[in-house]
Amino acid sequence: MITVHTIEELRQHVRQAREQGRRIGFVPTMGNLHDGHIRLVDHAKADDCFTVASIFVNPLQFNDASDLERYPRTLTADQKRLEAAATDLLFAPDVDEMYPHGQAQQSRVHVPGVSAGLCGGSRPGHFDGVATVVTKLFNMVQPDRAYFGEKDFQQVAVIRKMVDDLNMPITIVPVATARADDGLALSSRNGYLSPEERAIAPGLYRTLQHVLSRLQAHTPLAQALAEANEQLQQLGFIPDYVAVCHAHNVQSVQSGDTVKDLVILAAAHLGNARLIDNIHVTLNQRIE
Ligand code: PAF
Repeated sequence: MITVHTIEELRQHVRQAREQGRRIGFVPTMGNLHDGHIRLVDHAKADDCFTVASIFVNPLQFNDASDLERYPRTLTADQKRLEAAATDLLFAPDVDEMYPHGQAQQSRVHVPGVSAGLCGGSRPGHFDGVATVVTKLFNMVQPDRAYFGEKDFQQVAVIRKMVDDLNMPITIVPVATARADDGLALSSRNGYLSPEERAIAPGLYRTLQHVLSRLQAHTPLAQALAEANEQLQQLGFIPDYVAVCHAHNVQSVQSGDTVKDLVILAAAHLGNARLIDNIHVTLNQRIE
């Protein structure tokens, strides 16, 4: 695997791969890689793509300076993991390479609708930062396919809409959430958990499963959500949101709606970590 730090070097290697007739598969990350990221690389490799990963902790998508500051930077370990997964090229730019005119002067991409509410509501500006950096990375790498984990369900929806609205010739490939044996969704933020909190953390996924089983049992939506919030609090979480949404636009399901493609999402604080998770299911029924 070759690591490059500049856009010029990146373009040179991608151009060579294209000249050899390769399709380009792209896995954007912020590093501190876990098995979930490697699964994205595996998908790109399985699609026979020249596989480019990026590692860039994007300041534009952090609305909290201390969160940005403490975000783990583990480039050497990440390089080893990407190399072992047979990644072809790693692009690891610094902030000046990505934002040479400063962040305040950077043109922004805003994706309306789907980026409002949920994580967009709790983290103002977050999805503008994501959409902006992903647009820049797409323009730099010019991939045929780009791979994103479904754990960040709203992020995937934002990127899909952006690609569609802006006619970007890129196929977005969502990849199922990678989980630990106890159900906890793999996340770089799990590293912030103490051993005690780590033991509690799978309760987030169990809470989503509880909501699903209550909806399947025709429990009123408001009651299922109230139970979920209660359950999270009893476990020691501070819930940010629990929501039941239509999967295609991530807009809230209302009682009386008939749903098909449903996503149940939650975000909650546990100690120093803000964890998110979701369950995406086909559920052909009326929600009470
Ligand atoms: O999901 C992430 O790691 C980031 O939001 C992304 C897509 C790499 C953009 O910085």
